[in-house]
Amino acid sequence: MSDNKKIGARGYVLPALVVIFSFSLIYIVVVLIPDMTMVKIHPSEYAMEYVQKDEKGEILRDDKGIPVPNAAGRGRKVYIKEGCFYCHSQFVRPQDRDFGSRVYAGDYANETPNILGTSRTGPDLSNEGQKLPDAWHIGHLRDPRAYTPGSIMPSFSFLGDEDMSDLVEYIQSLGQKRFEDPKNRQIYEAYYPEADTAFWKKSEHHKPNVDSAAAANAGAGIFRQNCAVCHGTNGLGNGPNALAMAKKPANFSEPFYKSYSDKTWYYRVAEGVPGTRMPRWKLKLAPEQMWYLVAYLKTLPQEKEVIIEKFQTINDKDWEDQSSLPQRLVDTYENISRMKDNGTYKSNPGGEIEGVAGGH
Ligand code: HEC
Ligand code: HEC
Repeated sequence: MSDNKKIGARGYVLPALVVIFSFSLIYIVVVLIPDMTMVKIHPSEYAMEYVQKDEKGEILRDDKGIPVPNAAGRGRKVYIKEGCFYCHSQFVRPQDRDFGSRVYAGDYANETPNILGTSRTGPDLSNEGQKLPDAWHIGHLRDPRAYTPGSIMPSFSFLGDEDMSDLVEYIQSLGQKRFEDPKNRQIYEAYYPEADTAFWKKSEHHKPNVDSAAAANAGAGIFRQNCAVCHGTNGLGNGPNALAMAKKPANFSEPFYKSYSDKTWYYRVAEGVPGTRMPRWKLKLAPEQMWYLVAYLKTLPQEKEVIIEKFQTINDKDWEDQSSLPQRLVDTYENISRMKDNGTYKSNPGGEIEGVAGGH
């Protein structure tokens, strides 16, 4: 009996020691060594904060001690809830082009859970903020295909007004501090309209002959895909989207546009029209494509303004039926081709940029 007891006690000590030793080892390897050797990530100067603060800079908390999110923070929750991160990443690696400046771990130190994402079904959004106006984002989120034909992004038109505005606030916060930092000015030069030399230098890249029929034809296709929803298939400013717009899209039949030089057209297409829904196409299209558009816009008849009677709708007939062109427009087209045949037609002269600042 006493012999048995002795064996039993010794039988437990060894396994107990093994268990304690194993757990200690796991703790040291998994917790202590990493904690001592790994670099701690501190918020960088570009880290955004998605919480509300009081006057003393203390984070506001609710009864349960949870930080109260600000508008962008609430939008961040919508972003997570709607699964935007399944299709959009939020990291820019050195080898990534066109997604703006690089990001570092510290830029995200304030954000839990992280939503870096793993897949790029849509473009990376790290530097999406400040790139496009709020109205663009709202329109795009409601109906992506009205803004990017063929887009596979789902429509989020079911979001309530509050969620929608929070979400847009969040999108505009992405990369906001990187954007505002003058150190990054060069990287963002393309986004600043006044960065003239770089802008015009870039425009010369692959510049086609804008007086050729081939360029105008290429432009017509690009126009139908990107511009006709607002400007109408014939450039009369009566596209289906125009109906609901406070500031109507330009009607290119106005004789006013005869005074536009090639460069003025280009500038307008590239920079958009601030305060209206006209996008800054240089963020979406290549210089070459914008020159094709210039070539096309120049061929539109601008002899006499066509007063639009009704807006187009999205049905095939409206879009395809050329006989729905007002007679005056048909006449002008014929006039121009006659003038071209007998050599009396003079297209816009081109040359120096002028009148880019004002509307009319
Ligand atoms: C099924 C994948 C998918 C999901 C989900 C998705 N997107 Fe997109 N997104 C895309 C694709 C593809 C594009 C590129 C075409 C376009 O502009 O619509 C895009 C474009 C965008 C752009 C424009 C980027 C630019 O500068 O042109 C923004 C902003 C955007 N998405 C935000 C969101 C937000 C916010 C959500 C969640 C509410 C979301 N996306 C959900 C696929 C997706
Ligand atoms: C979302 C609607 C929308 C889309 C899409 C759009 N535009 Fe516009 N566009 C406008 C509005 C609105 C104006 C402002 C009209 C004004 O200021 O009177 C405008 C103005 C312009 C102007 C300037 C006219 C001027 O008076 O200087 C040009 C040029 C132009 N658009 C070309 C284009 C081209 C080319 C495309 C396609 C690549 C395009 N637009 C796509 C809405 C749009």
